[in-house]
Amino acid sequence: MPKTIAILTGGGDCPGLNAVIRGVVRAAARRGWRVIGILDGFDGLVDGPRFRELDRSSVRGILQRGGTILGTSNRGNPFSYPVERDGEAVQEDVSSRVLQNFREIGADALIAVGGDGTLKIARQLHDLGLPVVGVPKTIDNDLRGTDVTFGYNTAVGIVTEALDRLHSTAESHHRVMVVEVMGRDAGWIALESGIAGSADVILVPEIPYHIDKVCKAIHKRGAEGHLFSIVVVAEGARPADGGKVVQKTADENLGVERLGGIGHTVAREIEACLGLDMELRVVVLGHVQRGGTPSPFDRILSSRFGVKAVQLIEEGGFGKMVALHARQIVFLEISEAVGQLNLLDPQGELVATAEELGIMVGR
Ligand code: F6P
Repeated sequence: MPKTIAILTGGGDCPGLNAVIRGVVRAAARRGWRVIGILDGFDGLVDGPRFRELDRSSVRGILQRGGTILGTSNRGNPFSYPVERDGEAVQEDVSSRVLQNFREIGADALIAVGGDGTLKIARQLHDLGLPVVGVPKTIDNDLRGTDVTFGYNTAVGIVTEALDRLHSTAESHHRVMVVEVMGRDAGWIALESGIAGSADVILVPEIPYHIDKVCKAIHKRGAEGHLFSIVVVAEGARPADGGKVVQKTADENLGVERLGGIGHTVAREIEACLGLDMELRVVVLGHVQRGGTPSPFDRILSSRFGVKAVQLIEEGGFGKMVALHARQIVFLEISEAVGQLNLLDPQGELVATAEELGIMVGR
C-alpha cells in the first residue's frame, strides 16, 4: 500500500516554508506516496480535520513564494488549547482530538515544520504514539541542534538591505537611526545584520546594555566628524538595570509573549543623554523581516530539508528531525533541539569580531 504523509507548518511563518512543502511533495511523488497538507498548523488537527491534497501541480511555482500555502498559527498548542467554558476563556489539553483526527485522515506519518514551540508539540505527540518527524524553521535562528534554521538567511538579508538604505538618509540628515529588529530572546538577526550593514551600535538580549556607554560611543563618533549613527536593537534587548520591553504578556497573548518597543526606549534614553545635539528616528522593521521571497540559501536549505524529511519517514525515524551540521543534512532526536535556545555567546567569536570592528555592543 502506498504511504500517505501529512505535513503542517506551525508557529510564525518564514521564507522557505513553501520550498519545504514542495520538496516533500516532489520526493513523495517519486515514491508514489500521497501527501496531505494540514491547514493552519496544529489547529487543522484540533478542529476539523482541515486539510488539502497536495500533488505536484499544487506546489508548482511556490519555491520562490514567501509565507506558507498551508497557513499557520503560533497559538494553537493542543496541550494547552484556548477554549471557552461557561463563558470563560480557559486552556485545555485537546491532544486526544489531534490523535483521533490524524487517524481519521488516514495518514501514516506527519511532518511538522516549525520552531521550538512546534517541535516541542511534535515531540509530545510522538510520545503519545503519533509517527512524526520535524523540520526546523525560524527567522530567529534560536533553535539548537542545527547550524542554522531556514528563513534566517533571508531575514538577515532584508535587515542588511534596510540598514544600507538607512545609512544614506541618516548621513544626509546627521541623525541617529535606531533600528529595532526581530529575534525574540536571541540576538542573531541583530548581530549578523548589524555587522553586514555596518552598524555603529548593536544591542542584543545576551548582553544587557549600559546606555551611558552607548551614548559615549555615539558622542565619540560625532567628535571624530561622523555626524550620524546606526543603532541596531534586537527586540529582546534589555538594559543592565532593567527588563525587556513586552507589548503583550504570555497570558494576554494566548501563551506567547509579544516583544516590541525597546527601539523607542533606547531612542528616548539616547536623547536624554545626548541632549538636543542630534536628531533621532526610530525604525521598527517588524514583519517585513519575515515576508517575501526566500534567499537562494534558504530555498536550497528548505528543499534539502523537505526531501530529507521524506527519507527520514522512509527509514522510520519517527521522533527525529532533520538538521544542518557542517553542511550535511543529518537526523537527530527532536528532544536534542527543543527546550533550550541557541543564543549568542557573549564571549564568542562573533561578538568579539563585532567589537574588533569597532562596533559598540553596549558593554
Ligand atoms: O519567532 C519569529 C518571530 O518573528 C519573532 O522574531 C517575533 O518576536 C515573533 O515571531 C512575532 O510574532 P507575531 O507574528 O505573533 O507577531
